[in-house]
Amino acid sequence: MPGKVAKIGTFSEWVGLFNDWRKEIGVNTGEIEAFHFDTLYGAVETEDIEFGHYKGRRKWENLRQIPTQQMRDALMNMIVYQGDTEFASVEQQRHLLENAPTDWDRRAITRVMIEEMRHGWQMCALLIDFFGYSGKVEAQKLLERRAFENKRLLGAFNVDVDNWMDFFTYTDFVDRDGKFQLQMLKYSAFAPLGRSMSYMLREEAFHMGTGNDGLRRIVEAGVIPGWLIQKYLNKWISSSYDLFGTDHSSSAHWAYVWGIKGRYDEPKNDKAADLDDLNDYNRHLYREEVAGLIERFNHSLKPGEPRLYAPDIKFNRFIGRWANRKFHAQSGEPLDDRAYSEHLKEYMPSAEDKKLLLDIIETEKKWIAEKTGARDPLETIGEVRKSAINL
Ligand SMILES: [Fe+2]
Ligand SMILES: [Fe+2]
Repeated sequence: MPGKVAKIGTFSEWVGLFNDWRKEIGVNTGEIEAFHFDTLYGAVETEDIEFGHYKGRRKWENLRQIPTQQMRDALMNMIVYQGDTEFASVEQQRHLLENAPTDWDRRAITRVMIEEMRHGWQMCALLIDFFGYSGKVEAQKLLERRAFENKRLLGAFNVDVDNWMDFFTYTDFVDRDGKFQLQMLKYSAFAPLGRSMSYMLREEAFHMGTGNDGLRRIVEAGVIPGWLIQKYLNKWISSSYDLFGTDHSSSAHWAYVWGIKGRYDEPKNDKAADLDDLNDYNRHLYREEVAGLIERFNHSLKPGEPRLYAPDIKFNRFIGRWANRKFHAQSGEPLDDRAYSEHLKEYMPSAEDKKLLLDIIETEKKWIAEKTGARDPLETIGEVRKSAINL
C-alpha cells in the first residue's frame, strides 16, 4: 500500500498491535496470554561474510553498512516474507486448539503457536529496530493481512489447516520448508538476521517433530487408510515444493551474490553455486529429506497397506518450470488433460475425502496412537532459550 502511514513509532507500540491481533484472531488462551515473548539472538558461526561478492568481509551490523539501497530493499523484503508466514500459520491453525486428539496434542499446538508468534515477533523486531520508517510500516502490515481473507503473501499460507491430519502434515512438511528457509538465512551477511535464526531453528525442530511423530502415530494406528494419508502428503508436500520459489529466479541469484541468503548446505558445499538455479537446488535437497522421512513411516504400516512416498517434484506445481503442467504424482510421467483430471481425484484430497477423514476422526477414538513417554511441551518450552544471548 503506497504511502501507508505507520501507527507505531516504537517496538512497544507494535507489541500493543500484536496483543490486539492475538485477541482478534481468537488464539489468546490463558496459556498463550501468560507466555512472556522475547527477542532472542544466538551466536553465528563466523563474523565474516560466507559467500557471494563480499565474501571474507565483516558481516553488516546495521543498515548503513549495507552497500546499496537495492540490497537493503531485498533484505527487508525477505524478512517481511518470513514474518508473514509465521503469523499466517497461527491464523491457519487457530480453530484446532478446540479439538485436539489428546491433551498432549493440545499443549503441543499451543507451543507451536506461541513459537510461531515469537518468530513473527522476532522478524518485526528486526524491521522496527533496523529498517527505519518503512520497516515500521511493514511490521504493522504483518499484523493486518489475514490468512483467512486470502491476504497472506504466499499461497500455501492462505489455505485452511482445519483438521488434525492437516496439522500434522503441515507441521512436518511446511514447517520443514521453514527450517530450510531459516537455515539459508542463518548464513546471511546481515548479522542480526543470522543471529535471529539459531533460536528460531531450535524452536522449529519441535514443530517438525510434532508433525512427524503425529503422522507416525496415525500410520501406526492403522485406522485412516494409507491411500487417504497419501493424499494429504501429496497436498502439503507439493505446495511446499512451490514455497522454494521460481526457477531461474533473479531475486535468489542476487540474494546469493549479495551474501544475504545462502544455499541450504552452504558451509559444507564447496562447489560454486549455480546462480541460475538456486531455488530448485534447495528444493531437491528438501525432497530428499522428506522422502527419507516418509520411508520411515513405511516401517509402521499395517501389512497390505500401500507404501507411502514423497510426490514427484513435478506434481501439482504452480510455481517454477513445472507450473500448471500435468504429471503423475508418483511416477512423474506426463498425463493428458483427461487423464490428469481423473488422476487428481485419485491423488489429492477431495471434499468427499475430507468428509470421510472427519468422520473417522470423530467416530474412531483410536484413529491416532497415544503419545507416550514425551515431556509436557509447555513445561519444556523455555529450555531452548536458556542460553540466549540478548544483544
Ligand atoms: Fe516459525
Ligand atoms: Fe514452525
